[in-house]
Amino acid sequence: MTVIEVIQGDITAVNVDVIVNAANSALAGGGGVDGAIHRAAGPGLHEACVKIAAEKRKGAGTPPSEPCPTGEAVLTGAFNIRCKGIIHTAGPVWHGGGRGESDLLASCYRNSLFLARQSGFASIAFPNISTGVYGYPKDLAAAIAVKAVRETLPSCPGIRRLVFVCFDRENYELYKKIIG
Ligand code: APR
Repeated sequence: MTVIEVIQGDITAVNVDVIVNAANSALAGGGGVDGAIHRAAGPGLHEACVKIAAEKRKGAGTPPSEPCPTGEAVLTGAFNIRCKGIIHTAGPVWHGGGRGESDLLASCYRNSLFLARQSGFASIAFPNISTGVYGYPKDLAAAIAVKAVRETLPSCPGIRRLVFVCFDRENYELYKKIIG
């Protein structure tokens, strides 16, 4: 049985095996949690992302596939962050809910957990994917995140601890309410 925790804080300071980054499909870096993770990890993380992007684009057909399509996840090292790895997933941009956003957001959580399982990580921390620049309504995103991890964790018995790291008070209150 996995312990699910909710905390308010900065994901780069959480003591877990792997942290999840709310990245973009180009793995190009950005602001928000992506910026915070890149700053804390140092330049090695940017180099790793550039390398993955180049490999994915090289191996692709026409048109070339994105380094991390929306809803999928890729793993890098953690560099200067005190965890064992970083999973980068690209959340959906909110367009009003009619463009498959909920399925794509659930896929981010599911695919990140599958990648953590495959890599043998026992603890994982998630930010509130898509609820910043990408504009996903926080209440809807929180419900999807909790449902997706609760549905996926039974097939990931090696993951003993999952932490939802909420940066803002509103997300923290929402998650506390749902998880209890
Ligand atoms: N730790 C944890 N959560 C954080 C941190 C941090 N240090 N900094 C910001 N957040 C929270 C925000 O409060 C928000 O709730 O992360 C959540 C996701 O917000 P964004 O980082 O804006 O991510 P998202 O909405 O998924 O947009 C992704 O933004 O930075 C770019 O490269 C990124 O293009 C991508 C897009």
